[in-house]
Amino acid sequence: MTGPVLESSLDVNGEGFQANAEYMRAYVERVRDIERKQRETEQAYLPRARQAGKLLPRERLAFLLDPGTPFFELNSIAGYGMYDDQDGSTSGGNLITGIGYVSGRRCLVVVWNYAIKGGTITPVNVKKLLRLQEIAFRTRLPIVQLHESGGGDLSAKSMATDPWGPATFTEGGRVYCQLAQLSARGIPQITVAHGNATAGGAYQVALSDYIVLVQEKTQLFLAGPPLLKAGTGEEATAEELGGAEMHATVAGTGEYLAADDRDGIRIAREIVAQLPLDPLLTDVEPVEPPRYDSEELLGIYPEDRKKPVMAEDIIARLVDGSRFLAFKPEIDPGTVCGHARIGGKRVGILSNNGPITPQAANKAAQFIQLCDQSYTPLLFLQNTTGFMVGTEVERRGQVKHSAKLIQAVANARGPKLTILVGNAYGAGNYAMASRALDPEFVLAWPTARQALMGGAQAAKVMRIVTEGKWARKGIKPDKEQKKKLDDTTGMIEFGLEVISESLYCSARLMDDGIIDPRDTRIVVDFLLETVLEAGLRKPRETSHGVQRL
Ligand code: COA
Repeated sequence: MTGPVLESSLDVNGEGFQANAEYMRAYVERVRDIERKQRETEQAYLPRARQAGKLLPRERLAFLLDPGTPFFELNSIAGYGMYDDQDGSTSGGNLITGIGYVSGRRCLVVVWNYAIKGGTITPVNVKKLLRLQEIAFRTRLPIVQLHESGGGDLSAKSMATDPWGPATFTEGGRVYCQLAQLSARGIPQITVAHGNATAGGAYQVALSDYIVLVQEKTQLFLAGPPLLKAGTGEEATAEELGGAEMHATVAGTGEYLAADDRDGIRIAREIVAQLPLDPLLTDVEPVEPPRYDSEELLGIYPEDRKKPVMAEDIIARLVDGSRFLAFKPEIDPGTVCGHARIGGKRVGILSNNGPITPQAANKAAQFIQLCDQSYTPLLFLQNTTGFMVGTEVERRGQVKHSAKLIQAVANARGPKLTILVGNAYGAGNYAMASRALDPEFVLAWPTARQALMGGAQAAKVMRIVTEGKWARKGIKPDKEQKKKLDDTTGMIEFGLEVISESLYCSARLMDDGIIDPRDTRIVVDFLLETVLEAGLRKPRETSHGVQRL
């Protein structure tokens, strides 16, 4: 048991609570709606999939995972509203990625969503793959991939938005580089080649450690029949060029030959079953549920962001027994630090009840050092408008103390998890371990806002700068100039509000997904296990990865 029981002062019968809960519920629904639209696009492909004798991507996923076990989907709304996506129907980066159990082992799972844009490789697809690989390096989890993709997105629509510009081409190549490096780090990658795997798609499969081929379905080649004919004049069927039989019996590109989709997944599960078991966590106490209902997490965050939110109200609904051993609670309660347990596992929590003062930065940095010393994972519940500004705090060394906090976070050696609860602005966003400070996972509540500062503040800054310029040059602005300045500041404010919004940020992978606040404890528990196991995994490194001989 860690610490005294927190008494939450949240009035769950009050009007404010009800209004907050309605706001949050509606916001969660917006995320679910995007995910639903994606699934509808996939479902619409069902008749074609059946005609071709194939399972839909999510059906493949269901057969892969151990029945009744959790699957934590990552970056579900990646690409929402980007490029040609309007309402989420084609979001997701043409991939389903996540962490789940296969044959009793925790695995990273990648299912290529061939039912959306042919499962093609797009800029969002590449970003999502790179993020998954980053997670693989950190968590050391095996990767199971159910592959089927039309390869690089060559459609005219995409060409218009330049997806295969130099940056994406290079980033796309990094995926292959890292596939090779993961193998060398001893992280096994098991792939079922369910269908088309042309050019880059072929390497996506061929760089895997284990390949399962599917009879009459796998089409694995550097150039498909049309390109071959165009390039060399040679005519060949897809089956002759890169069918499962040919690869299994002649080229030796795969190790296992499956009869169909389901059989391929069965073989993948058998391959995983011969991998070592997950390490056993020993430092785990019996779990005591929180004394407050997690349902109440819905009613904490207000639509009006100027209203205060008490971190303790959130912590009381997340941690075992609502027990929290606050660290230096008498020193600047605006920054909350303390020890607790979640799912029986030790965790050091940092959160905010406002901007971060010099004293608070010191307190937090000291707390992080203690957690580092005792290998205690850190959980950041981020809700800050940033570091406090002004003459008084500058004289107290705000810059050096905030730099110290950034230093402590960046160099803490234990695992870090971050939940962006609400405000996540400026250097405070960095110091409270947003993506930039490289925690293992960053999740967001729908109410999260990430930006260098709030829209209104940024607009005010630019107004002052412009007015200063006018004064220096002796310009007395006329009506038109003043109107233009009003328009510009309005635009800055609006623009920053748009780009800091949670759906916008999550679509661009600034986090690993938006969660329903009610799921926070379950998610943190699952991810704590994942990152603690990572420290116990002992992958066997080689100099070059496993090569197919
Ligand atoms: N770029 C853009 N869109 C692609 C694509 C590509 N490389 N490959 C497939 N698609 C799209 C199709 O236009 C179609 O879009 P729609 O759903 O809006 O109609 C969708 O993906 C499904 O493709 P379709 O051809 O209808 O399905 P299929 O099951 O009959 O065939 C493939 C799938 C992958 C075999 C076939 O589309 C193909 O040969 N694609 C080109 C593969 C290639 O040479 N890639 C090299 C890229 S470097």
